[in-house]
Parts: sequence; structure tokens; C-alpha cells
Amino acid sequence: MSQPINAALISPALDDAINAQVGREFEASLQYVSIAAWFESESLTELAAFFYRQADEERLHAMKFVHYITETGGRLRIGALAAPRADFASAEEAVTAALSWEIDVTRHINAIMDIALQERDHIAGQFLQWFVAEQREEVSSMSTLRDVIRRAGPQGLLLVEDYVARRASAATAPAPEPAA
Ligand code: FEO
Repeated sequence: MSQPINAALISPALDDAINAQVGREFEASLQYVSIAAWFESESLTELAAFFYRQADEERLHAMKFVHYITETGGRLRIGALAAPRADFASAEEAVTAALSWEIDVTRHINAIMDIALQERDHIAGQFLQWFVAEQREEVSSMSTLRDVIRRAGPQGLLLVEDYVARRASAATAPAPEPAA
């Protein structure tokens, strides 16, 4: 009797690794909600809004991985999530925690990509490219924010608020009309 055809495109190793990453992305989302709420309690509303937006992005990252698992015939298994850290001694400490989180996530994305490359799984590799580019952008923007906070110092956080507001409005501004 012939063996049934296994239609799953995802390997067991990638299924495990991506399931673990789903948990990390949801943890990042919760961590950023927690950082945002801390900034809000410090009346730093632009920094709070920045981290609420980041929290939404992390949830979208988690959902991209969820859909990848279901579309490739894997099985979603979300593990227990770690409680987010709630207290920070300073704005610099909160943003440094976010930066180190992003660096850690980058390491995990690279490790998942390594599995895809070892397996010559081009479908996974193409999917993961988006996350590779996203991590470059996220580590870079978090690192810049940490540097701006350091430069401004604890008495200069309103300058940081201006910086974050300017970056947010530049990101949502419509593209300029092409010259006639
Ligand atoms: Fe989804 Fe910021 O890593």
C-alpha cells in the first residue's frame, strides 16, 4: 500500500521554531504595551504612543507567523508567555530594554532563517526575508531613540518627545507630488 502524501510544506523543525517565534512576538507586543503604559504614567505621551504603535506592529508580526504556519500545513501551538517587565528606573532604561529585546529577536530570526537555508526551503526563506529587513529597521530605530535619549539627558525628555512626534508625523505624511 502506498504511503499517504504529506501535504505539509513546513518541516517539523521549522514548525517548532516558528511556533516559538509566535510566542516571542506576542511577548514583545505585551512588553511594548507595558513600556508604553510606563511612559504614559510619566506623562511622556509621544513616547507612550510610539510604544503602543510598536506593540501593534509586534502583534502583526506574530499574526504573520501564525498564518505562515497554518498556510504551510503546520500546527499552531502557542506556549506560555512571560509576564512583561512593568517598572523602569528611567526612560533610558526602558528603551535600552526594548533595544536588547530587538537584538535578541534578530538573533532568533537569523536562527530560523538558518534552518530554512539548511533545509533549502525557499518558501520559508522568501517569507523570512521580510522579517530580516524589518529587524534591521527596528534595531536601527530603537538604537537611534536610545542615543537621542542619552544625548538629551533626564532633564531633556521634552526634546525627545518633540523628536518622536516629528518622526511620527514624517512617517504618516503623504508623499510629495511629483514635479510637473
Ligand atoms: Fe517583531 Fe520587533 O520584532
